[in-house]
Amino acid sequence: MPIEENNRVRKKVSIIGAGQTGASTAQRIAQHGYSDVVLTDVVEGLAEGKALDLQESAPIVGFDARVTGVTTSPDGAGYEPTANSYLVIITSGVPRKPGMSRDDLLAINQKVITTVVQSVVRHSPNCVLVMLTNPVDAMTQLAYRVSGFPSNRVVGQAGILDTARYKTFLALELGVAFQDIDAYVLGGHGDTMVPLPDHTTVGGRKLTALLSPDRIDQIIERTRRGGEEIVKYLKTGSAFYAPSAALAEMADAVLLDQKRVLPCCAYLEGQYGINGLYVGVPVKLGAGGVEEIIEFALSTDELGALRRSADAVRGLIDAMKL
Ligand code: 2OP
Repeated sequence: MPIEENNRVRKKVSIIGAGQTGASTAQRIAQHGYSDVVLTDVVEGLAEGKALDLQESAPIVGFDARVTGVTTSPDGAGYEPTANSYLVIITSGVPRKPGMSRDDLLAINQKVITTVVQSVVRHSPNCVLVMLTNPVDAMTQLAYRVSGFPSNRVVGQAGILDTARYKTFLALELGVAFQDIDAYVLGGHGDTMVPLPDHTTVGGRKLTALLSPDRIDQIIERTRRGGEEIVKYLKTGSAFYAPSAALAEMADAVLLDQKRVLPCCAYLEGQYGINGLYVGVPVKLGAGGVEEIIEFALSTDELGALRRSADAVRGLIDAMKL
């Protein structure tokens, strides 16, 4: 645990990007109280203002975390306050607008993320990096290449969000508590994501015994389009409450060494027959980042869907010329 000049021994989490998702994530993590939070943004004063506002909620909510805001420059200067972070969450970049796919963001976010990752690793060479920026599978692969980190210390958030949407729609349909659905959504964070209805249980009962195949297909389709559904409503931005909850869950797993089994975008080296690529799979997430890739026994169809999803991610990697 790094000891700061002011004798603070809490682990530091830096959140890059103080937009809706970055700021909501900062709020969730600060309120958990066991780590200090540094929030950054390139928009002058945005991170400072949100961090101060959040800090001033501490006496009311009752948390002890220090929250600091800092303006960084688009050329990568100003990251000193993030130094020695245990965990860095990258949310920077451009979100999509109605009618855009996540993949339409590739070129612009490639530039932003390259500079951000270089600056982050210069100051926190031992951190665990969590990527959120879209298209997230490709941006996680980019962060892995640019950082030079071992693959266990670079991980992307997507599967927790996709799984949460799937569970939400199922719980609403079945009239059961959200927490009583056990499910995983694998694959890339896009149209090719891979929900696993045969591995979904509701209070211990198989989903396939409770809903018709047609209804399950409709819910899967809504899950696939879950991000788009929110973008259509918001018009000027994308979802942030559920994404920030997903990031905070990953942060807890790493900072508290919880060894959670969670669907995350992780680097595969032969698992599921996929090699040299970041894609969404169940992992064990703890203090070391991705401590294990968990291999589910998938059916031939499920495995085929996962590999097709991986091919779509590979297309983006090729487009970035990585
Ligand atoms: C979503 O699915 C922003 O990609 C994110 O809402």
